[in-house]
Amino acid sequence: MDINNIRKDFPILEDKTLVYLDTAASSLKPIQVIDKLDEYYKKYGVNVHRGVYNLSFIATEQYEKARRKVASFINATFEEIIFTRGASSALNLVASSYGLNNLTKDDEIIVTELEHHSHVLPWQNVSNITGAKLVYLPLDEEGRITIDNFKSVLTDKTKVVAVTHVSNVMGYISPIKEIVKLAHEKGAVVSVDAAQAAPHTKIDVIDLDCDFLAFSGHKMLGPTGIGVLFGKKNLLKEMPPIEFGGDMNDNVDKFDASWKDAPYKFETGTPPIAEALGLGAAIDYLENIGLENIHKYEIELKDYTMKKLKEIEDIEIYNLTTDTGIISFNIKGVHPHDAITYFDGDNICMRAGHHCAQLVIKWLEVLATLRASFYIYNTIEECDKFVSSVKQARDFFKSVGF
Ligand code: ALA
Repeated sequence: MDINNIRKDFPILEDKTLVYLDTAASSLKPIQVIDKLDEYYKKYGVNVHRGVYNLSFIATEQYEKARRKVASFINATFEEIIFTRGASSALNLVASSYGLNNLTKDDEIIVTELEHHSHVLPWQNVSNITGAKLVYLPLDEEGRITIDNFKSVLTDKTKVVAVTHVSNVMGYISPIKEIVKLAHEKGAVVSVDAAQAAPHTKIDVIDLDCDFLAFSGHKMLGPTGIGVLFGKKNLLKEMPPIEFGGDMNDNVDKFDASWKDAPYKFETGTPPIAEALGLGAAIDYLENIGLENIHKYEIELKDYTMKKLKEIEDIEIYNLTTDTGIISFNIKGVHPHDAITYFDGDNICMRAGHHCAQLVIKWLEVLATLRASFYIYNTIEECDKFVSSVKQARDFFKSVGF
């Protein structure tokens, strides 16, 4: 990986003072993705599936080509890929379509405190409406999901397991394959939130054997406003749409209508066309570098930074054994929002807060954390700048009596 060449692809990095450590919230976008959006709007920016004219055929072909790319990216088939507004919409689709139509008060849904709100709140809603019971998998002392703890909550009543692939706060990789195997032995389906996994590790849905898996475009170099839901063909076939309107229907009568097959029955209205094309370009970019190389590089940056942070007094790190490029920490006695304002003064972008995952923040028994997340465009020099800013922030807040 030639990091200097990679950095040249990101127009925002023309600002040499910028240190972007907030990829877990949203990645930067390379010129190849921006150019693809530009190409669509300038050359064939019309609707898909509807127009019987050449420009619409081109737009449709490009849109479906992007779907094929996504399918091959995670080893799924074309019909199993639904484009959504983002990972949150994709996970909501599973809960609202599969959950509300298959669960009853006698069933149980296993969730974890590591979940992003978008993978807990939809299941809380299903639980409130159907009476199905939400069961929390106990995390181990590091905050990880273990198979033993999973077995302790898995029962004959379990119908759904909702689990994150990579925690957006702790950076832990969950043992998805083993969870799926055990869940299937009980007849339960598994929904995987892969928003923090897809940009960083190779996903193979056949190998994982998961039933549903969701991720977003904007965390993996793609545009905002596009996400993906993978669902197994046999499950999608039985699931009803949750949004109704143009393009998702077959025949429409006054009091009844029929739907197209998946994925189209779940994609009503004009879809995110430019965004799908941009996501396709992002996938090309990632595959060109190689997901394994990306993961290895992020770990190098994380290990280097973690070692330096550990040497600083008054720094509390919450995920010392993290498996990915995410570090969650605090400066003792300093509110993370104060610290983040200090870092912003050094043009270092990070996230502070509960990261839309309040359950794990409560599990950690803190108010909020600082989170640094690394990606392919970060450098060792940036890690040094970041560590130096952390030291200075600590000294500054101590000197003013924190
Ligand atoms: N889910 C995103 C994050 O972790 C926004 O920051």
